[in-house]
Amino acid sequence: MFFLDSLLIKGFRNYQHQQLDFNPRLNILVGENGQGKTNLLESIYYLSVTRSFRTNRDQELVKWEEPFFYLKGTFLKDDFKNDVQVSYSYNHPLKVKINNEPVNRYDHLQQFPVVVFSPDDLMLIREGPSIRRRFLNLEASRLNPVYFKELRAYQRVLQQRNHLLKGFYNRKRDQVNQLLEPWDQSLVSLGSNIIHTRLKIIKSLEKEAKLFFLSMTKASEIFTLQYDCSFDYKVDLKDTNETFMQVLESKREQELKKGATVVGPHLDDLKISINGYDTRKYSSQGQKRTAALALKMAEVSLFKMENNECPIILLDDVFSEFDDSRKMHLLEFLKGSTGQCFISSADGMEKLAKKLNRDSKIVTIRQGRVIDEIGRPGN
Ligand SMILES: Nc1ncnc2c1ncn2[C@@H]1O[C@H](COP(=O)(O)OP(=O)(O)O)[C@@H](O)[C@H]1O
Ligand SMILES: [Mg+2]
Repeated sequence: MFFLDSLLIKGFRNYQHQQLDFNPRLNILVGENGQGKTNLLESIYYLSVTRSFRTNRDQELVKWEEPFFYLKGTFLKDDFKNDVQVSYSYNHPLKVKINNEPVNRYDHLQQFPVVVFSPDDLMLIREGPSIRRRFLNLEASRLNPVYFKELRAYQRVLQQRNHLLKGFYNRKRDQVNQLLEPWDQSLVSLGSNIIHTRLKIIKSLEKEAKLFFLSMTKASEIFTLQYDCSFDYKVDLKDTNETFMQVLESKREQELKKGATVVGPHLDDLKISINGYDTRKYSSQGQKRTAALALKMAEVSLFKMENNECPIILLDDVFSEFDDSRKMHLLEFLKGSTGQCFISSADGMEKLAKKLNRDSKIVTIRQGRVIDEIGRPGN
């Protein structure tokens, strides 16, 4: 069993100072709009990923007029306590400690898995490629520490290479090729590894999401995921390496003109289709929602398979956005999952708790404070 046992929040969003204990199974956050339900879920997610699901800017997370935020979560894992502490103050790097030992940010990405479902998941389907690349990068990094290291290294190489390309246009081509060679090698080798890890993850995600999608659409619609690559990758990693290098060489003039690297995983996309048609272009609003939900459920399954333990699931206001059929499927999914669950909602969720038939705790939030708690806190 893996769950968040307690949480201390200081100066985060609209929370001044709040201590909370949680139920290992189900926690329901209720309160009017704008009171701090999502903020609370965001703080839990932050402890796991050291990143928000709403913003990339840590400054936004600090309570207005306050100098810093601090979060401390106690996760229980097979009866072992693990304290995760993060603290951030303006213009300083984030500090992270696990069991009082300082660690690098992102070092614990694989250790305390949390998956969030939010109305913003729809953006995964609706928006441009960069949001899906971000999703893939984060998923892969949380499942595979090597991926995270390679991605970092790739981004550094890309930056250096682009910098060089910008200054090279008027130089002799022989000289340019010679100077670029080591960068080309690194770009190709790291980039090909990144592509192949993404392919593996996409395959597993697709397998799971397909099943959820089939059951949600009464076995009538086929959901597929494809890797949309900026060059023609191959099944074999070695062959992908070779092709990538050839394409890169063939684009030399274009790259020098642009002053940027024009092929590679930093430009790729994930194509999400229903019955063979790109969801982004051709699907109805309802199909898009179902696709996003299936993807998220698949994410939970993947974490479960990787860790032999269900991740913590955060559901931010999703029940109010869904129609009855999607609600029912999500409910069935939650019933089947063994993990700890946090559900936020503006309307009373007591009925839902009953349907889930779980031991639960209900927390009422007003203006960044817990004003009422019903139910058992811990086990
Ligand atoms: N950095 C911040 N400092 C103080 N208050 C904030 C900050 N960021 C957001 N808020 C406040 O948090 C509230 C929204 O909280 P949220 O958790 O999104 O509400 P909900 O309960 O509807 O999910 C708003 O009142 C907003 O003004
Ligand atoms: Mg909210």
